Amino acid sequence: MDGVVQEYGVGQARVVAVRDASLRIERGEVVVLYGQSGAGKSSLLQIAGCLAEPTRGTVRVDGDDVIGIGAKRRADLRRRRVGYVFQEYNLLSVLTAQENVALPLELEGTRGARRRALAALEELGVDQLADRYPEEMSGGQRQRVAIARALIGPRRLVVADEPTGALDSASSRAVREALVARAREHGAGVLVGTHDQEWSALADRVLVMRDGVLGPVQGGVL
Ligand SMILES: Nc1ncnc2c1ncn2[C@@H]1O[C@H](COP(=O)(O)OP(=O)(O)OP(=O)(O)O)[C@@H](O)[C@H]1O
Ligand SMILES: [Mg+2]
Repeated sequence: MDGVVQEYGVGQARVVAVRDASLRIERGEVVVLYGQSGAGKSSLLQIAGCLAEPTRGTVRVDGDDVIGIGAKRRADLRRRRVGYVFQEYNLLSVLTAQENVALPLELEGTRGARRRALAALEELGVDQLADRYPEEMSGGQRQRVAIARALIGPRRLVVADEPTGALDSASSRAVREALVARAREHGAGVLVGTHDQEWSALADRVLVMRDGVLGPVQGGVL
């Protein structure tokens, strides 16, 4: 992304959540984004994850411009190339865990979607929940299922907003390992917004947002 600005509201209510942010994430790279509550992390991540369009600036995935491409092409992009883990995990309540994870592949007509979904659940340590519905799972279990769904298929970029926020330490480690493996073994770019300090040691780069301004960590101060 280049020169990205995100504003919400108008007049007195105007908030500038992201101020002129530029960021390039390479294949196989893990970038971690810290910042206080309200600093603009989710706003930036939603733009990187092609969920939201910025007020100004350019965003490209694999060299393709993704601003102004229309809702259908954006949806295609999110299904095929960009995985997103929401800060509030966001599973479909009428589908089981396995069906939720298989959904992006089934929408594509990919063969073996259910089997691959089960393998993804296993990687996150929640395969025993395959047949449960979201309301039958704990918050942390739902989070891991949502991460499995974001990792399935040929995703080039995985954007995760607070993926370990709701988890105990063992589950957090499983989530960190699964996301890092996506970069190291499958060559995806991984961008994680978090308050979890355990990410620092795993990241290729650590960035911080302060009042909408994206920058490097200076002198180890977040
Ligand atoms: N849809 C919206 N409309 C108006 N203001 C918004 C909207 N979404 C976010 N904001 C504001 O933009 C700023 C950045 O919010 P954002 O959610 O990006 O922060 P964050 O760094 O993710 O915080 P947290 O760590 O609490 O998740 C905040 O001041 C927030 O109140
Ligand atoms: Mg946030």
